[in-house]
Amino acid sequence: MHTLAIIGAGNMGASLLGGLIANQFPGERIWITDSDPEKLRTLKQQFNVHTTDNNEEAANAADIVILALKPQIMREATRKLATVSQAKKSLIISIAAGIREEDLQDWLGGNVAIVRCMPNTPALIRAGATALYANHFVTAKQRDLAESILRAVGTAIWLDNEKHMDAVTALSGSGPAYFFLMIEALQAAGEKLGLASETARLLTLQTALGAARMALESNESAAELRRRVTSPGGTTEAALRVLEKANITELFFNALKTAKERSEELADTFGKEVK
Ligand SMILES: NC(=O)c1ccc[n+]([C@@H]2O[C@H](COP(=O)([O-])OP(=O)(O)OC[C@H]3O[C@@H](n4cnc5c(N)ncnc54)[C@H](OP(=O)(O)O)[C@@H]3O)[C@@H](O)[C@H]2O)c1
Repeated sequence: MHTLAIIGAGNMGASLLGGLIANQFPGERIWITDSDPEKLRTLKQQFNVHTTDNNEEAANAADIVILALKPQIMREATRKLATVSQAKKSLIISIAAGIREEDLQDWLGGNVAIVRCMPNTPALIRAGATALYANHFVTAKQRDLAESILRAVGTAIWLDNEKHMDAVTALSGSGPAYFFLMIEALQAAGEKLGLASETARLLTLQTALGAARMALESNESAAELRRRVTSPGGTTEAALRVLEKANITELFFNALKTAKERSEELADTFGKEVK
């Protein structure tokens, strides 16, 4: 049986803990750390897990260490875990945005099995989308373990090349914000066309949920599903013509390309601090 240490009990660390407990991972096999004792007290009461403000103590008790700290403090915190991680040969799972495997490797002293992940905010309600990348020290068994941990908060998809993490960050990492923007825009348009605010809100949200579920559950592509609701000369066709004239596909491509470039820049900045 494995023992897990979650370093950082913020939004993501606490969500992972909640997901793991809901998936029957035993609380006595989980350690969670944070700098805030109040947060730790609440989690201990709620989930009956081990808590400490000492990251090395938690890492020493575990064979899988999940790094759920803000990117800015990853270097300092990870370096302090190098001795324990070298001695224990633990699997390190990092969910920190923009922190590259080679930098983690450097901070942890080398030859470490590392899985780098990029989850997104819907993980907070266990509807996240996470991409994972494993370095060549990670065994097949450790890959399965990492995947089952991230599956506790949503869907998990493997990447065979870490360089795709920046595109993932642009697509699913930042993605919830694009959909929130669309929800805001549709709701505002509904209101401008005379609908009550609450009516516009509920119709927009249920339409977003329904469309996403249809696209997920159908064998057809999104393009085919769109064609099926677009009768020639009808209302949907009239609306789509306006969106296509504004070149919405290219607009999204430019937005994601810019986000990907920003993700590369940020990773360079965090990495440069090491050398
Ligand atoms: N939230 C998301 O949707 C999302 C999506 C993808 C990736 N991520 C990544 O997930 C990581 C965590 O994000 P988050 O939103 O959960 O951040 P967060 O809420 O700030 O969580 C980090 C927690 O760690 C605590 N902490 C600070 N220094 C510590 C230390 N030395 N040892 C132990 N705990 C310490 C923080 O306490 P204080 O608040 O007191 O400093 C905070 O409770 C980030 O690297 C982020 O890039 C997040």
